[in-house]
Amino acid sequence: MGFLSSASTCIPICTDMPQHIAVIMDGNGRWAKKRFLPRAVGHKRGMDTVHELVKACVDHKIPYLTLFAFSSENWRRPVDEVSFLMNLFMQGLKQEVAKLHDNNIKLVLIGDRTRFNAELIDQIELSESLTLNNTGLTLSIAVNYGGRWDILQAVNKMHKAMPSHVEGFDEEHLASHLAMHYAPEPDLFIRTGGEKRISNFMLWQLAYTELYFTDTLWPDFDESAFNLAIASYQSRERRFGRTSEQVSDATSKN
Ligand code: IPE
Ligand code: IPE
Ligand code: MG
Repeated sequence: MGFLSSASTCIPICTDMPQHIAVIMDGNGRWAKKRFLPRAVGHKRGMDTVHELVKACVDHKIPYLTLFAFSSENWRRPVDEVSFLMNLFMQGLKQEVAKLHDNNIKLVLIGDRTRFNAELIDQIELSESLTLNNTGLTLSIAVNYGGRWDILQAVNKMHKAMPSHVEGFDEEHLASHLAMHYAPEPDLFIRTGGEKRISNFMLWQLAYTELYFTDTLWPDFDESAFNLAIASYQSRERRFGRTSEQVSDATSKN
């Protein structure tokens, strides 16, 4: 990987693999509808894509993969669909955690857990503690997650820890209280399913992420579709406010 160095930062230029990929897995419902199947079938098929993508990230030695599975706004869906998704999530955790552990994958759940039932909270805690010390891929699953919630909970945590702090907080301090404080900001954001929006995903961290939108529906997002996203990322020049000339100068010095 090439690096663009400045006084205080070391900025990666995307000639290499992204180190953190964040994904909005969208299009399960439309995938099912096209086949005159219930939406639930699309969600189930979407789980197969999750397997494939996790495997691809492990093969490519990508350190961080973050998947948006259920947004804070998805509670607005019909009750049956919400409970199907929660069950699918619970079953997925039960069935997959041992395999994730065997593959040295660390699993982290990000999102507001207060709305989950006790059984689900137990399963999440069990899965996280089993895989806590794994050193391979860090797989973060965002469930009942919202970018605004994340920023607010960070502000509230900071305020609680330092109630009399009046001088104002800086970016680093806030970032260290976000749900994903343990990961670098995503290099590549992928949204399947054709919509071109962020839908309240990692609002803070996506500030300088390379965005990739594809019409491919999530259940159809296979390895070749993933490779296209990587190729698109690798064709970009990340300037972080600098000029193109500054970026090429810094790259040629590395
Ligand atoms: C994404 O697929 C999965 C979740 C939001 C849980 P959708 O269910 O949003 O599928 P579409 O957008 O209706 O096709
Ligand atoms: C975003 O998908 C959330 C997840 C994939 C979990 P949605 O399908 O809920 O997004 P909107 O409502 O179309 O923006
Ligand atoms: Mg959708």
